[in-house]
Amino acid sequence: MATISPSQFNEIADLAQERWGLDLTPRKKTLVETRLGKMLNKSEYGSIASYLEHLRTEATEEDMLVFFDLLSTNTTSFFREAEHFRYVEEAIYPRIAAKPRGTSVRIWSAACSNGSEPYTIGIHAHECLPNIAELDFKILATDLSNKVLQHARMAVYPEKAIESLPKKLLGKYFEKRQLPNTPRCEYSYQVKSLVRSMVSIHRLNLMESWPMKGPFDVIFLRNVMIYFNKDTREKLVRRMATLLSNDGVLIIGGAETLSGLDTGFTMVRPSIYAK
Ligand SMILES: C[S@@+](CC[C@H](N)C(=O)[O-])C[C@H]1O[C@@H](n2cnc3c(N)ncnc32)[C@H](O)[C@@H]1O
Repeated sequence: MATISPSQFNEIADLAQERWGLDLTPRKKTLVETRLGKMLNKSEYGSIASYLEHLRTEATEEDMLVFFDLLSTNTTSFFREAEHFRYVEEAIYPRIAAKPRGTSVRIWSAACSNGSEPYTIGIHAHECLPNIAELDFKILATDLSNKVLQHARMAVYPEKAIESLPKKLLGKYFEKRQLPNTPRCEYSYQVKSLVRSMVSIHRLNLMESWPMKGPFDVIFLRNVMIYFNKDTREKLVRRMATLLSNDGVLIIGGAETLSGLDTGFTMVRPSIYAK
């Protein structure tokens, strides 16, 4: 583990706040020290001071994103927080199932991590909407991390990541793959193109300007606001409101809440909000 001085920690925290909205409170110091230490052991920088000097003076955007990956967490899984998908099935999809051929349906997975979330949305939509082939149904998947976006684009997951899914879904939506340089008995699973083709994957920093116009029928903003302070969360959610359709919903993580924020959203169920 590397030891970070208070002024170095402040510099890192300021940078993370300004660029990515991450709120690195002093409680995170040990975590940052452990992660930076591991990286420095494998790098040519030698010390925290020279790494920070590099970030300050000559780092490319890609270098900065490697640093972002050291500070952030990408935990995710297929069908995470299943109650959100039950809500969409019961409250949103019946209305969409009744729409005429060609209706556009737009869903945004706004911190998509390795793709488990947007592909879950795609699989779930196929299961719930008998008319999906007739709709113009698209899922936008964005995240800041190059590492997770690369994974999301490959859409290949280890057996452990999909083993809890019902067998019926596995056969229907995943293809078994033997990846190069893996033991003969070890398989990975790639999401089939039927679902991959619904998802467009882009890099997007939630703190910067957004090119898309919406409106979205559902926005998944799950388990990312926990890293932001109150002010950042409030601004972010207000911006989300401008891209949500009038009868759309914003879904946040089960451990998150909009209570105490001035956003204009009303809670429909815990962690599910309407304008
Ligand atoms: C814990 S994961 C959540 C993944 C998924 N939404 C879920 O609930 O399973 C948080 C994700 O937020 C992303 N993230 C953090 N700050 C971000 C920012 N400023 N802009 C875009 N993505 C960000 C991270 O890269 C990470 O993949």
